Amino acid sequence: MLDKRSLYRRLWVYIKPHRGRIALSMFGSLLCAGADGAMARLIQPFVDKVIVAKDAEMIFLVPWLILGLQLVKAGGRYLQEYFIKTAGQLAIQSIRNDLFSHVMNLSMRFFGKNPTGVLMSKHLNDVQSLQSSLAEVLVGAMRDLVTLLALIGVAFYTDWKMAAIAFVVLPLAAWPISMIGKRIKSYARKGQGIMGELSRTLEQSFSGVKVIKGFGAEKEISSRFRGENLSYYKTLSKVFKYDAGSSPFIEIVTGIGMFAIIRYGMEQVQNEVMTVGQLFSICGAIMLMYAPFKRLTKFNNYLQIAMGAAERVFAVLDEPLEIRDQEKAIDLGVAKGAVVFDDVSFAYDDDQPILSSLSLAVSPGEVVALVGPSGAGKTTISALLCRFYDPTSGVITIDGHDISAVSLASLKQNLAMVDQESFLFNETIADNIRFSKPQATDAEVIEAARQAFADEFIAALPDGYQTRIGDRGLRLSGGQRQRICIARALLRNAPILILDEATSALDTESEAMVQQALLNLMHNRTTFVIAHRLSTIMHADKIVVLEEGRIVEVGRHNELLEHVDGLYRRLYDMQFRES
Ligand SMILES: Nc1ncnc2c1ncn2[C@@H]1O[C@H](COP(=O)(O)OP(=O)(O)O)[C@@H](O)[C@H]1O
Ligand SMILES: [Mg+2]
Repeated sequence: MLDKRSLYRRLWVYIKPHRGRIALSMFGSLLCAGADGAMARLIQPFVDKVIVAKDAEMIFLVPWLILGLQLVKAGGRYLQEYFIKTAGQLAIQSIRNDLFSHVMNLSMRFFGKNPTGVLMSKHLNDVQSLQSSLAEVLVGAMRDLVTLLALIGVAFYTDWKMAAIAFVVLPLAAWPISMIGKRIKSYARKGQGIMGELSRTLEQSFSGVKVIKGFGAEKEISSRFRGENLSYYKTLSKVFKYDAGSSPFIEIVTGIGMFAIIRYGMEQVQNEVMTVGQLFSICGAIMLMYAPFKRLTKFNNYLQIAMGAAERVFAVLDEPLEIRDQEKAIDLGVAKGAVVFDDVSFAYDDDQPILSSLSLAVSPGEVVALVGPSGAGKTTISALLCRFYDPTSGVITIDGHDISAVSLASLKQNLAMVDQESFLFNETIADNIRFSKPQATDAEVIEAARQAFADEFIAALPDGYQTRIGDRGLRLSGGQRQRICIARALLRNAPILILDEATSALDTESEAMVQQALLNLMHNRTTFVIAHRLSTIMHADKIVVLEEGRIVEVGRHNELLEHVDGLYRRLYDMQFRES
């Protein structure tokens, strides 16, 4: 938790580069405030000389003065709004950039703990509310404060005793208003929580629409949504209630102030201690004060919202980069592909070991299959090799280099992965294949697709390689998606390959093709294959059988089958019986 001062200091880092704009904006608000003050001050000669004394010179001058002042105010307002808003927006833009690139560099552990929806909300809602509240605070506070000061100056200059009466009332109003503000804040916070649930429901419902429709659950989901929506309204209506209450409250307080002033002022005018013009001038000043004062009472609310949002944003920016380059990280270059796990242990959470003392040596070009019941730790092994996480103890080496000592960029350059999810971006097919090698030529992309047995169906699409993959690739079959992912991995041309259940979602027809594509991909590469179907890994150079994070057997298919009581034999028999 950051204290207030360091929060301001960190915000200032983002605002500081734009202080020229802020200075211009301040100058603008000085013009506005000056014009308002002068207007209030002008009421006196206007009433005394024009209306009462009918002074010809003033009759000519006053309308021009008023017009001039309005022009000054208009110019001031433009400077003030334009420059403060662009300054705020520029500051927010760099906060958003920093946030995004920081989050992109955070470890998979962070993404495991923070669901996509929450991260989206941080980037959109928190940054947005930081932006609007910050602009409100910067724009409003500056103009209103200066205006208020100018008007107070005019009032005191005209008749300090009368002005004093008016200003006894203002502080009296401030206290209840701050109480109301607290109420508003607590309901607003509750509302934000409900809004979070609402967006979670939305996200889940849209991404899971197939399941919802499949089980005919549209009604239930709609009624749950309706419930959350209603409770959002109920909370928000409390915010509205208090918020709507605060303006009339100020009206009443202002009314009381006016009452006192006019009572006193009339007396003064009657006793000829004060001119009518002076009375009007003070009343004018007080009325002009109404709007800025009202906005200033809300200043604290906006400030709280902005600070709350800033706190959440900075908390993410403060997440330490768990996986990062060491100071003198070496460049792995193009590795031969010798991979060694030396006594590696790992836990996602401190208390639950997932891999225990795992040792494994793989020679360049070897195909290693990882098999075992689900939850045994197969995917975890590949995640450690990709350095999504660092082992709790032990080391993983490639060509003898500890992977935590080589640069992340060069490590990743040596790895290509195809997994079960076969995630494709919502872009063209060519873009998706080229993702692994942005500088690849069209010919290289097509060649990769050809080797992945994807060229034929891609060419048959209406827009060929320029066809956009719709959300979740609804227009492609599982096998087609998988082959695009294989093309992506092929194009990478990395010496080490990880195939995590890369064929699990396929039908038999496309499986044959994907198998052939994978064989193309595995050629001359160190390959880790994770597969449920043992038929697909029978020819591996080495089969590693895992159970509860430990290696229980290692060998070739035939050797392992000979261990009659072995886990591999049991798994094999089970699958053999099924088919
Ligand atoms: N991100 C994660 N956070 C916490 N635990 C995890 C995470 N991913 C996997 N696990 C746990 O680690 C164990 C091994 O998972 P995994 O490596 O995915 O197994 P496999 O791929 O062999 O099915 C499982 O018990 C699983 O619940
Ligand atoms: Mg897995």
